[in-house]
Amino acid sequence: MGKNIILTGDRPTGRLHLGHYVGSLKRRVELQNSGEFDEINILIADDQALTDNADNPGKIRDNIVNVVLDYLSVGIDPAKTTICVQSALPALHALTFYYLNMVTTARLSRNPTVKAEIQMRGFADEGLPAGFFVYPVSQAADITAFNANVVPVGEDQLPMIEQTREIVERFNKIYGKTLVLPKAMIPENETQRRLPGVDGKAKMSKSLGNCIYLSDTPKTVKKMVNGKMFTDPQHLQISDPGHIEGNVVFTYLDALCTDDDFARFLPDYQNLEEMKDHYRRGGLGDGVCKKFLINVLEETLAPIREERAKWEADIDSVYDIIREGTARAVETTNETLARVRKAMRIDYFEDRSIVGEWNELLRKAKQ
Ligand code: TRP
Repeated sequence: MGKNIILTGDRPTGRLHLGHYVGSLKRRVELQNSGEFDEINILIADDQALTDNADNPGKIRDNIVNVVLDYLSVGIDPAKTTICVQSALPALHALTFYYLNMVTTARLSRNPTVKAEIQMRGFADEGLPAGFFVYPVSQAADITAFNANVVPVGEDQLPMIEQTREIVERFNKIYGKTLVLPKAMIPENETQRRLPGVDGKAKMSKSLGNCIYLSDTPKTVKKMVNGKMFTDPQHLQISDPGHIEGNVVFTYLDALCTDDDFARFLPDYQNLEEMKDHYRRGGLGDGVCKKFLINVLEETLAPIREERAKWEADIDSVYDIIREGTARAVETTNETLARVRKAMRIDYFEDRSIVGEWNELLRKAKQ
């Protein structure tokens, strides 16, 4: 049996938010602490972030620290998890170049996530950077370089894993079994897969201003919930029957609350189902629901905030964590690149026996 290895990553384009937390970070910490994995790697994908931010490298540079702070504050433990920086791993660039020959441009054009991102970023009109178009191939390099068999990601990343699998299968078919075939791991809970923004829009996104960040103050969190969170527009009076579907307060509770939270903060109900029933019948006001949600959110966010403050006071150590993680990752990814070059028989300077081959070739040509 091969090893159980995880690789996952994020683009360092901003602070991480609650959507990242329920969709992926929380799971990563659980996996890290499960003891079921031989290796856990998290990649800060700064090269990938540059594919649509080439004109703003300062943004990527600044956000590396924000993303690492978010990791450390949710409980990613550098003693158990390798945190590394993509641009400092040259093997990834070399692998990307070889894997580009394992996909067609037609196949790349069909990637639904990239298609949606091209629309969102206006690249359809402005012109599409070639690097952005092929970033799924670089992601295949990320995953395979670490020999990952498990890739915990949000739902939107499934097309990347699918494309990685195709690249692996094609590579192994041509050059012999060299690369590990990875599997995606997505959250079981439907609402956790894609937490909507506080305004009810499909996704939390910085540009829409509908995010709750892990580093937000209690005051900001309260303001986002009380001031901006979408509920049921038909629920005008407390006594009116309410709708759960599309009601963001309940979507967030679905993703986050436990029965214990009811015992602690809202003992009128035993669990979320009872609360929902009351809301549907009428007689349960949005104010009460929002107050409960704020308590639930704070239960998650307060310890994260506290941990973050500790690390923020010691950025030197944060730097050393990613420096050391990256040094380890250089080794791992270089080993994979060496294996790939060997499989492709382009490892010319690893093995001088090619001089004999060439001599033989020349001798035969003269006969
Ligand atoms: N594309 C991912 C995202 O936008 C980030 C990422 C880069 C990644 N490389 C990866 C995720 C490798 C998983 C594995 O969130």
